[in-house]
Amino acid sequence: MDDLLSLFPPGSAPDADGMLRIGGCRADALAAEFGTPVLVVAEGAMRARAREYAGELAARWPRSRVVFASKAFPCTAVLRVMAEEGLGLDVAGGGEIVTALAAGADPALLVLHGNAKTDEEIAMASEHSIGLVVVDNADDVDRLEATVTEGRCQDVLVRVIPSVEAATHASVLTGHAGSKFGLAPAAAARLIGRIERSPRLRMRGLHAHVGSQILDVEPFARSVRALAALGEFPVYDLGGGLGARYTYDDRPPSVGAYLDALVGAAREHLPGHAELIIEPGRSMVAAAAATLYRVITVKRGERTFVAVDGGMGDNLEVALYGQRFEAAIAGRLDPAGGETVTLAGRHCESGDVLVDGVRLDAPRVGDLVAVPATGAYCHTLANNYNGNRRIPAVFAAGGIARLVVRRETWADLLARDVG
Ligand SMILES: Cc1ncc(COP(=O)(O)O)c(C=O)c1O
Repeated sequence: MDDLLSLFPPGSAPDADGMLRIGGCRADALAAEFGTPVLVVAEGAMRARAREYAGELAARWPRSRVVFASKAFPCTAVLRVMAEEGLGLDVAGGGEIVTALAAGADPALLVLHGNAKTDEEIAMASEHSIGLVVVDNADDVDRLEATVTEGRCQDVLVRVIPSVEAATHASVLTGHAGSKFGLAPAAAARLIGRIERSPRLRMRGLHAHVGSQILDVEPFARSVRALAALGEFPVYDLGGGLGARYTYDDRPPSVGAYLDALVGAAREHLPGHAELIIEPGRSMVAAAAATLYRVITVKRGERTFVAVDGGMGDNLEVALYGQRFEAAIAGRLDPAGGETVTLAGRHCESGDVLVDGVRLDAPRVGDLVAVPATGAYCHTLANNYNGNRRIPAVFAAGGIARLVVRRETWADLLARDVG
């Protein structure tokens, strides 16, 4: 049971009758108030993680900044928490710029990414005085030079391919030779020369991002080494990518161990006066949330399928990357006496499985199922497949729950369909 609880947001515990509490709120009460499926975020756990990251980085490298990769959970409530905790925000594209500004983030603390930034997005960066634009290609430079108004100078970083392969799913690997993101060192060096000559741009430094869900610190250290070969700059943005704990077997490095490796490599290879930026997404928010589902049907046969009222419409991580999750019946958490089942979604794909081979205690229709570690990339990858109404997000803290993203309605589904 402790093993299971350790996958839920810190502070989660069973109530006297066995019902799971997250952020002090009972799962059955959350389901009754907000319906299912519902994404429940333990606000305190998320804030604590943001503070842990900021404190651990500042302790190792005082001239530094944690920038939350907003793509991992882009809604104003989450981004406001990050801004309140003093973090900057990584925004990939116009939608994330708009969301960050709506959350009240300081534009000077935004870092704009994208391997195909449009004219509109470059214009937004300029209009809102976004702090750093990460140049991915020469066309970014053309667009910036054409857009930045006279008398203004846009601070830029250049994204470099560090040629580092990490052990993770191919779809979330980004730092390997041949990646679509960034430039190989020789091409980066040429573009840096051009930026340094530009009257509209100020060359501030380099960026590298190895990939996501990386459970070993060594690739991060190697990526720092790769940047050092391009010369000395005032700013180095070392990306995100630290893995989160999804399953009993996952043992991701702690934030401290990750930063020991990353900052250790920075001490060895980068100028001591430089500013360091890191961009954690997944490892910042994954563990802070869980999704609650209602069991719709239990089908016993060759395999036992426990099918719930959600699936790949609210959690695409399984179908996209084969991410393994765990699950439990919210009112009977101890799976010791349980049976091994396939926790299936409701969508028209055989791949729509939430967890294949999970022990649940006597699952039956109407039970609430809780899937932990759904705080990263679930809200943001939610979709309308099969007419799915995207699910709400609720903040739970000190036994009080508040809606931060409402459930879509049938009218929302039809609103863009103009016939
Ligand atoms: C440029 C950049 N920075 C940071 C991140 C965040 O990565 P993660 O969520 O794995 O920490 C990503 C996501 O892939 C990214 O593309």
